[in-house]
Amino acid sequence: MGFLLNFIEHEWHKEVLMGSVKQSGDNIVSVILIFSLLLCSSMAQSQNSSNTHDPELLQALFHSYANETLSRHHTGNLYNITLPSNFTTVQVSVVRLRSGRFWSVGANFSYFQIPKRVIPRPYAKRIAIVFDNLGNLSSYYYKVPNHSLVAPVVGFNGYDASNLSALNDEKLTFSVTDNPILISFPQISLEGHKNVTPKCVKFGDGGSVEFINMTQPNVCVTQGAGHFSVVVPSPPTPPKKKEEKQHWKRWVVGFVGGFLGLILLIVVGMIVFMVLRRKKIKEMENESEKGVAFDTFWIGRSRMPSATMMRTQPALEDDYDA
Ligand SMILES: *[C@@H]1O[C@H](CO)[C@@H](O)[C@H](O)[C@H]1NC(C)=O
Ligand SMILES: *[C@@H]1O[C@H](CO)[C@@H](O)[C@H](O)[C@H]1NC(C)=O
Ligand SMILES: *[C@@H]1O[C@H](CO)[C@@H](O)[C@H](O)[C@H]1NC(C)=O
Ligand SMILES: *[C@@H]1O[C@H](CO)[C@@H](O)[C@H](O)[C@H]1NC(C)=O
Ligand SMILES: *[C@@H]1O[C@H](CO)[C@@H](O)[C@H](O)[C@H]1NC(C)=O
Repeated sequence: MGFLLNFIEHEWHKEVLMGSVKQSGDNIVSVILIFSLLLCSSMAQSQNSSNTHDPELLQALFHSYANETLSRHHTGNLYNITLPSNFTTVQVSVVRLRSGRFWSVGANFSYFQIPKRVIPRPYAKRIAIVFDNLGNLSSYYYKVPNHSLVAPVVGFNGYDASNLSALNDEKLTFSVTDNPILISFPQISLEGHKNVTPKCVKFGDGGSVEFINMTQPNVCVTQGAGHFSVVVPSPPTPPKKKEEKQHWKRWVVGFVGGFLGLILLIVVGMIVFMVLRRKKIKEMENESEKGVAFDTFWIGRSRMPSATMMRTQPALEDDYDA
């Protein structure tokens, strides 16, 4: 802000020195406009600053780490993946399996029991399954309207891993022909939720949410890949309260923004006033310079101002003191 004001003042002085004051009047309008735009856009940015937590991007990140991990490891074992430090509470692991074995035995890894006779499509000689548990980041990535998550979001995706050195990035779909896939949740915390029936939810691609009844405690069933959690209906009051709080915040931001704008206007107004005053004084100075030729007379070696000169002088002195 200080820098900008200095800049404006500097520009003004330049304009005045060049004597193009009419033009600089236009310039000050554009400076005000530009500054207001900057202020507005910075405010809008601070309102939207919450990161976009896109689950698809997260899965793409897991895929690229899985690709890197698998290129160094054997088929048949589950490997934990080390993620960047902002995801340390997220657990991701990956296993590569021959699809013949996957069909005849199934896969029992992480929180998932995939029974035998599950068919991955399209056909691949080997498949890789990436498992994840989003831990305390779950609610940033997955939300269910009017419900609260009471378990972390866990999920899995399958990819074609026929090429041992490069994991295909298209997701496989799974068809269950016999028993469903079981998901055993690591923890479900029903603290503060009395007399409610927890429900399983499945998060599909594109933000779809599907409710599934929970038939065994802490266990959900699914017919395919995706992300899963457990929810309870949320009491209607907390969301409203949050909204009010946000309204309140918006008011504060608006008020502070308006106040800053007002201060800016006052400062700019003062600069305009100062510059105009200086310009006027300069004109008066020029006038009196011209006047000197006619209105002064000489006494000995010194020049004496005439009556007209006397009247303008106090204003000049005031200005040089200011
Ligand atoms: C998978 O794990 C469950 C529980 O740990 C066990 O009961 C089941 O036999 C396992 N199945 C296979 C195929 O390993
Ligand atoms: C998640 O938990 C970890 C450790 O328990 C903590 O450092 C981190 O701040 C938590 N993150 C969020 C978003 O709550
Ligand atoms: C496997 O992937 C690597 C790396 O992308 C590529 O160079 C190679 O040609 C692929 N092999 C086959 C058989 O597609
Ligand atoms: C997977 O890793 C290999 C090298 O190990 C690399 O050539 C390839 O581009 C990676 N693929 C993706 C989708 O990141
Ligand atoms: C799920 O449970 C509700 C109530 O507990 C019941 O009305 C509904 O029919 C069940 N749905 C299925 C698909 O079992």
